[in-house]
Amino acid sequence: MGSATSRPSGTIALDEARALDAADPLRAFRDRFRLPKGLVYLDGNSLGALPKAAAERQRRLVEEEWGEELIRSWNSRGWIDAPQRVGAKIAPLIGAKPHEVIVADSTSVNLFKLIVAAAALAPGRRQLLSEAGNFHTDLHIASGAAELAGLRLDIVPREGLEAALGPDTNLLLLTHVHFKAGFRFDMAEVTARAKAAGARTLWDLSHSAGAVPLDLNGAGAELAVGCGYKYLNGGPGAPAFLYVAEALQERLVSPLRGWMGHAAPFAFTDDYAPAPGIARFLAGTPPILGLAALETGVDSFAGAPLEALWAKSIALFDLFARLVEARCAGHGLACISPREPERRGSHISFSHPNAFEICQALIADGVVGDFRAPDVVRFGLTPLYLGFEDVWTAVERLRAILDTGRWRDPRFAVRGKVT
Ligand SMILES: Cc1ncc(COP(=O)(O)O)c(C=O)c1O
Repeated sequence: MGSATSRPSGTIALDEARALDAADPLRAFRDRFRLPKGLVYLDGNSLGALPKAAAERQRRLVEEEWGEELIRSWNSRGWIDAPQRVGAKIAPLIGAKPHEVIVADSTSVNLFKLIVAAAALAPGRRQLLSEAGNFHTDLHIASGAAELAGLRLDIVPREGLEAALGPDTNLLLLTHVHFKAGFRFDMAEVTARAKAAGARTLWDLSHSAGAVPLDLNGAGAELAVGCGYKYLNGGPGAPAFLYVAEALQERLVSPLRGWMGHAAPFAFTDDYAPAPGIARFLAGTPPILGLAALETGVDSFAGAPLEALWAKSIALFDLFARLVEARCAGHGLACISPREPERRGSHISFSHPNAFEICQALIADGVVGDFRAPDVVRFGLTPLYLGFEDVWTAVERLRAILDTGRWRDPRFAVRGKVT
């Protein structure tokens, strides 16, 4: 290990990274997760790591609740209340009131429900406005919802959003932290600007919730959705969450009028009457196995101060960026994520013409990040369980791959179905 004076500026030695971990106030939270030995997992912004408590929770659910208690568990084990209960646990992570959040369906389906429901509130306004390069499911869902709701979908570059807002804007649909480079909108400012134009804003929090400071109530946000399987650690395909501000809840009606969103699901009436409050955004029977896994994922935040999470995210990002600058210079990697913390999320992305091959070579060397077409390699910095040594090791393995040109091995060019 070289001394601080003999090292190029920006680098730190492994023992210094370990010292940062030892001083990390969140260090104990890492033990709540199963992280395979030797693997550096930098994809928790896509699929969160497995909370150790999840296996036992699933075992109990399957063997005792489903196996023994069977259908009685809907009441006796609180299955029927799980969408509200888990929603209420997500609420403090996003700055919402407990009864403003519910877990249901996927993010895509929740986007559909809220776009169509919101459209009906201002029938004279025909524009659904979103950003070019927004996550594609948001734009795809928006196009279908717009067609059904009689809206016109306008997709414009970020710089043009403000000018495109106007008296015809019904809804502004934005992803708070961009999935690729990690640019973050100022939620309060954008929401206020849309409101001034008479429009509502629907936020996709998929890359924010569980890592980035969020204060939906403070920002005046009215509508939001987000993924359960990313920073919330809810497991593959975990159900998503949906937020509607208290003041708006009784005015919105879901276009998916399922029995679970009915005021009296077990009255078996022919007519639809929406349940009071956020429950009207349920459609079908809640997925209890997935909800239980998500609950375990959200419970793994218990006791973690949100400010400490964000402070650590900033520190992990800064170390990653500094090490790449110092150790990987001259290889064509360009950091495309904003350096200012208030303008970004909790992942760091680099462009490179051979990002795909570099990403595959890294995975082969035990550093799991991901590739985003056409030329981005992305690393999720999950502050709840990652450490500074992880960042250090990842950049050293990246440097070795670049220095040796090992990414040119033809096996790293083979593409799977999920890239
Ligand atoms: C911004 C954003 N929205 C939505 C999704 C996916 O939503 P769904 O839960 O429907 O798969 C993702 C997935 O990566 C995403 O990044």
